[in-house]
Amino acid sequence: MISLGGKILFPNGTPVRGAEVEIWQVDANGIYQKMATNGDAKMDPNFQGYGRFETASNGEYRFRTIQPVPYRGRSAPHIHFKIRTKSHQPWTTQLFIAGHPGNARDFLYRKIGDEAARQRVSADFSSSKVSFDIVLGWTPQD
Ligand SMILES: [Fe+2]
Repeated sequence: MISLGGKILFPNGTPVRGAEVEIWQVDANGIYQKMATNGDAKMDPNFQGYGRFETASNGEYRFRTIQPVPYRGRSAPHIHFKIRTKSHQPWTTQLFIAGHPGNARDFLYRKIGDEAARQRVSADFSSSKVSFDIVLGWTPQD
């Protein structure tokens, strides 16, 4: 079990209030929840597979989940994120495990432009507390 949390921020560091943060990932056997509805018996019935959180004025979100694992077609374990705000288009990304050996073989991870960009979508999963701040790429007009 891990505690996954962070802040949703504007580029100037202002926390984003009312951002809807949604995550989804495979269970410990590498199965997505939607696959279980196709008759796959291996889906862990005790794992929800997704979560949703609305940030308060401090911009913080927090989930209790498990460390992601590789699955068929994806050697880099990851957690999907979708951020929705009142003022702009939904935005999606994936959070990777920093230093995971599967990253180098993963087609999507390899597509990320450079090492600095890879670092921005990776986090340290070596403890049970994982931190991932997300900075939206624009500032609203005041
Ligand atoms: Fe995935």
